[in-house]
Amino acid sequence: MKHNAVAELPSAGRSINALPKSSKSALLIIFVTLVLFTVTPVLYPSLNYPLYLFQSSFSSNYPKTYEIPQQQEKDHIHASDQSENVCDLFSGEWVRNPDAPYYTNMTCSAIHEHQNCMKYGRPDTDFMKWKWKPYGCELPVFDPSQFLEIVRGKTLAFVGDSVARNHMQSLICLLSRVEYPIDVSYTRDDKFKRWKYTTYNFTIASFWAPYLIKSDESGTSPKFSVATNVYLDEFNEKWTSQINGFDYLIISSGHWFVSRPAVFYENHQIVGCHNCHLQNVTHLKFYGYRKALRTAFKAINSLENFKGITFLRSFAPSYFENGWWNNGGTCNRTKPFRRNETALVGDNLEIYMIQMEEVRAAEKEGRKEGKKYRVLDMTLAMLMRPDGHPDKYWHWARANVTFHDCLHWCLPGPIDTWNDFLLQMLKMETR
Ligand SMILES: *[C@@H]1O[C@H](CO)[C@@H](O)[C@H](O)[C@H]1NC(C)=O
Ligand SMILES: *[C@@H]1O[C@H](CO)[C@@H](O)[C@H](O)[C@H]1NC(C)=O
Ligand SMILES: *[C@@H]1O[C@H](CO)[C@@H](O)[C@H](O)[C@H]1NC(C)=O
Ligand SMILES: *[C@@H]1O[C@H](CO)[C@@H](O)[C@H](O)[C@H]1NC(C)=O
Ligand SMILES: *[C@@H]1O[C@H](CO)[C@@H](O)[C@H](O)[C@H]1NC(C)=O
Ligand SMILES: *[C@@H]1O[C@H](CO)[C@@H](O)[C@H](O)[C@H]1NC(C)=O
Repeated sequence: MKHNAVAELPSAGRSINALPKSSKSALLIIFVTLVLFTVTPVLYPSLNYPLYLFQSSFSSNYPKTYEIPQQQEKDHIHASDQSENVCDLFSGEWVRNPDAPYYTNMTCSAIHEHQNCMKYGRPDTDFMKWKWKPYGCELPVFDPSQFLEIVRGKTLAFVGDSVARNHMQSLICLLSRVEYPIDVSYTRDDKFKRWKYTTYNFTIASFWAPYLIKSDESGTSPKFSVATNVYLDEFNEKWTSQINGFDYLIISSGHWFVSRPAVFYENHQIVGCHNCHLQNVTHLKFYGYRKALRTAFKAINSLENFKGITFLRSFAPSYFENGWWNNGGTCNRTKPFRRNETALVGDNLEIYMIQMEEVRAAEKEGRKEGKKYRVLDMTLAMLMRPDGHPDKYWHWARANVTFHDCLHWCLPGPIDTWNDFLLQMLKMETR
């Protein structure tokens, strides 16, 4: 698949017009990752000091850490194996899996160019050879035949940004051992793809909606040439008008809200902005994201004919160390962290908490109408995978690009595990 790197990424870097095209794409990519998107500090609580000195805007004044709640505090939107009452699928560790990976860039052509890390010379392969082991139960590795049987005659939609696409491509690659889908897209716009598994009459759709709600590019900001207008109380009909018949929806978002200049509107009035540097406009850090999620869920709850299950795939933090995106920050580790080597803090924690609060509220609201919500609670597991990002292997070494992509995930790689979770949760639904 050939994708336009620019299309997937925030265009806040548009003012940087003097650069050659490839560098511009690179800057755009990195902009998602980077602009003011704070890094994840890795705390070693037992040592009582951060092992790595991160340039993080929050780590010093943000002592709060959050342990993913234990099962008894969790509700039914989280996956738990009912037969083993104590098992929370999302609480665990990475353990070795010598059998992985289950596809390569030679067997699967769906890998996005910039996530094809092996093509661009990534030297180590160990990062592919892990699986998630929940405390107290097993998470089986993805079985493509079983998955396709469960989704026979069904439709699944991904709604989100380039990380949602990353997830979809992982699913297509994992399924490619059994069947490769045909392209049945209704438009030539790569942002809205449809794939059909003819043998199983199973359809995957992707809807490009990095803000989830209505937005347009006409906003201006003096510092960056473009700030996006984001309409916090308006649905994004590009997907909300399309999903009525879908059985499963996987919604995700977050990075665009923290990385990009945006002007927020409510009731057609500017209510504030994020990094827009406009005079007399209030800077709002997380308000916009909370409202956007709320509006996206409201859209789902208001669809009378939508009978599907909505999965919120929780935030997957980026990871930089020894600097930031713009001063040489990297993610060149080759092994996962242990549970005690990382903690969910700062902006990552804030985004995660907003997601959990809003999905719970939406679940409560939607229950009356028979709407179902579940959480693919990936945040902690992915926080433990500093080794899973492309780093510098998202482009040729000779390309004059110095930025590192520590936001997306190499394929094959740890993001494949998201489909292990997805299958397990689908199995629980059909029990
Ligand atoms: C796949 O990766 C290998 C290195 O493992 C590389 O040589 C090759 O060009 C890549 N092929 C494709 C189609 O991406
Ligand atoms: C295929 O699935 C769609 C729903 O996704 C359904 O409407 C249609 O009837 C199915 N076709 C066949 C031949 O089973
Ligand atoms: C900002 O607000 C002040 C005080 O209300 C006003 O004098 C000024 O003109 C405003 N600036 C802009 C750019 O609207
Ligand atoms: C990893 O990146 C750091 C800078 O963050 C660098 O000092 C180190 O040499 C790199 N390691 C490898 C193996 O490239
Ligand atoms: C983390 O836990 C592992 C085993 O569970 C232990 O070997 C290691 O020393 C611990 N590391 C820290 C920094 O506490
Ligand atoms: C690479 O980029 C740097 C900084 O932008 C520039 O000075 C240098 O000439 C470039 N090198 C090549 C080979 O284009």
